[in-house]
Formats: sequence, structure tokens, C-alpha cells
Amino acid sequence: MSTSQIKPHGGELINRVLDPVERDNVLKTIPGMTTIRISLDRAKEIENIASGLFSPLEGFMGQEDYLSVLQSMRLANGLPWTIPIVLDISKEDADKISAGDDVVLDHDGLPVAVLHVQEIYGFDKEIHSQKVFDTNDAAHPGVALTNDMNEQLLGGTIDLLNEIETPYSGYALKPEETRALFREKGWHTVAGFQTRNVPHLGHEYVQKSALTITDGLFINPVIGRKKSGDFRDDVILDSYAALLDNYYPHDRAAMSIFQTEMRYAGPREAIFHAIVRKNFGCTHFIVGRDHAGVGDYYHPFAAHEIFDEFDDLDIEPIFFRSFFYCKKCASIASDKTCPHSDDDIINFSGTKMRELLQSGQVPPPDLMREEVAQAILKYENPFVE
Ligand code: ADX
Repeated sequence: MSTSQIKPHGGELINRVLDPVERDNVLKTIPGMTTIRISLDRAKEIENIASGLFSPLEGFMGQEDYLSVLQSMRLANGLPWTIPIVLDISKEDADKISAGDDVVLDHDGLPVAVLHVQEIYGFDKEIHSQKVFDTNDAAHPGVALTNDMNEQLLGGTIDLLNEIETPYSGYALKPEETRALFREKGWHTVAGFQTRNVPHLGHEYVQKSALTITDGLFINPVIGRKKSGDFRDDVILDSYAALLDNYYPHDRAAMSIFQTEMRYAGPREAIFHAIVRKNFGCTHFIVGRDHAGVGDYYHPFAAHEIFDEFDDLDIEPIFFRSFFYCKKCASIASDKTCPHSDDDIINFSGTKMRELLQSGQVPPPDLMREEVAQAILKYENPFVE
């Protein structure tokens, strides 16, 4: 499969952005419509739907798709889809609208989209969390967010009216633009890399190992809500800019952002992440150790095994086991390539690196590039509060 052949999920790149004339007409009718206030997270999902990044979705899921995603990790039409994309609304808002209405979704006074209401339905948070996160433990950040959701879900297609400005507009390419970029660069194969972190040498080895077999590397950090203690969005981007400038072939690597919240849903999120990168035009997707995991909720390679259940994803996963530094090898190695004992290896511990950086220290060069550490240390507090 090459970038010229890779089709969006479902076959067509969805476009739910109104053309200027239609947009003006809709804007004129807004005063007569019911307005529902939405969070920044939901506004970003609307942009993702509108740009085709969530193809084949054309709006927020109705009950049939929602239940099908929970139960079988597929949309009602059978296409793989593992994470519910839903809009929760309060009871008061639900009481104001009925199926067939058009409502305005508003963030901070900006009309973001019109939603064509198809249905309003309730959902069971315990079942939702158990299915999506494989746990009901409120200490899991995804479960905690689910518990905070409103009780009603609003399903229907959307039409985008306005985007929320991002401070990272230089990195905010849409699927059409990444597809054009890959074509321009002449990359027939592209490995997509998901991240929510600043890069350590383990990340670099994962990426460069993939890049030895593909033409291009697409570094695609998640920018959006993360749990407390994760790195801030601006820090992630600055640290990657430093890595790319100093250590990557400029004609073979590119970076752009994926504006969404982290779910920390481990294996299910790995499939969702792969689908999104397919929509960006990647032919391959990197899945390493404990992809999108948190704490000990998922087996480190559960996000590899889940791909066995999907032979119809049409993006090729590239699996990597754990990379670490081995003192005897005197290099980065993995458990597939290194014969030495646990005493010889140093794992890339996020906690340890965070502690060093928090106290203003540069982690050892075997774990993190100095330029990356310096980019992080420019920030007084590089972490999400
Ligand atoms: S994630 O939540 O986005 O998965 P992170 O940004 O740390 O977290 O990881 C990005 C990708 O690199 C994931 O595919 C993850 O599995 C992989 N990865 C991170 N560290 C390692 C490592 N030491 N060895 C192998 N893969 C790794």
C-alpha cells in the first residue's frame, strides 16, 4: 500500500465545512435556534469531524453506532471504530430540543457548528467505562472524565461554522494538507507516530527504526486535554522541534498536531489512533510499549494484540517491544536484540526523567538529547497542573 493508494477510513474523506455562501445563510438563522454550550474538547472533535480526520463520521454518534462501538469495536455498518465520539448534554438542554431540530453548538460565544439533531439518548457510565477503559476505577483518568459527563447524549451530523484558533497554527495541518505534503515529498510509505510526551531516546529509536523501512516519518503529537503531571503542549512541540532540527533528515520527517484529548484507553485507543493516522494519509502506524496506557491498567503489549481482531484496518501497524539503554551493548537496545541481564539495562522511566527535569537537571545523554532537555528546561513549569 502506498500513500497514493491509501484511502480514508470508509473510502471518502468527509468534509463538513460549509462553503461561504451556505455559512452566511446559516449564520443569519442562528438567532432563532437553540444554543447549546460546549467545551473546548468537544469543539476540537467537531473540527476533526469536519476536516475528515474522523472519517467516516459526519457528526456525533447516535445510539446504534455508540452501542455497536462499545460492544463490538465497530460502527453499526461494520467498520472498525473503537472510541465513542459523543456529545453529552445536560438534562435542561435535552428538554429544549427534539429530533429534527437544528441547534447551534457554541464555545465561549463563538458559534462552532450547527448540529442536525437525530436523537437524544441516555447511557450507562459503568458499562461505558468498563468497555472503553476495561475498568471502572475512578482513579483512571478516562473513567474520571466519563463520571463527570452529563447524562444525555446528542446524536446528529454537524456543519462547521467557525474553528477555534490554535496557538499552534503552523503545525495544524488538515488531512487534505498532510496527504498533499506526503505526495509533494514523494513519500510512498509514511509511518505515523502518536505521542503525548517529550521525546526520550527510546521514542527516537522507535521512530528511526520505522523510518529505516518507510520513506517518511510523520510525528503527530496529541495536543489537548491531558492528565495532571503530563507534559504541556507547548513543551512537547518545542522539544520535538529541537530533536527534529538536530537529529532528523529534514526531507524525511514532518511534524503536525492531532488536536484531541488523551483517553488513556490503551489498546482501544491504539486502534483509534491508527484510524486517524490513516485519514492523515499514513500507510503505517507505530505501536510500541504500553501505547496510550496509564498506570498498570493494560498489559504492555495489549495494544499490539488487539490488532489481531482487525484485518480490515488498511493501515499497517509496526510493532516495537521495549527499547532501553543497555550498558553492556553501550547503546539503545530492545529485548529482541539484546542478550544481557536486567542489571545491565536502564529503562526509559518517565517518572525518573520528570524528577530530574523538575529539579532543573539535564537527564543523562543515554536517555535524552541535551537539546531536547534544554528546550524543556526553558519552562519554569513544563507540566500540566
Ligand atoms: S502514548 O500515550 O502517546 O502512547 P508516548 O508518547 O510515551 O505515550 O509514546 C508514544 C509511542 O512510543 C507509543 O507507541 C509507545 O508505545 C511508544 N514507546 C514509548 N516508549 C517506548 C519504549 N521505551 N519502547 C518502545 N516503545 C515505546
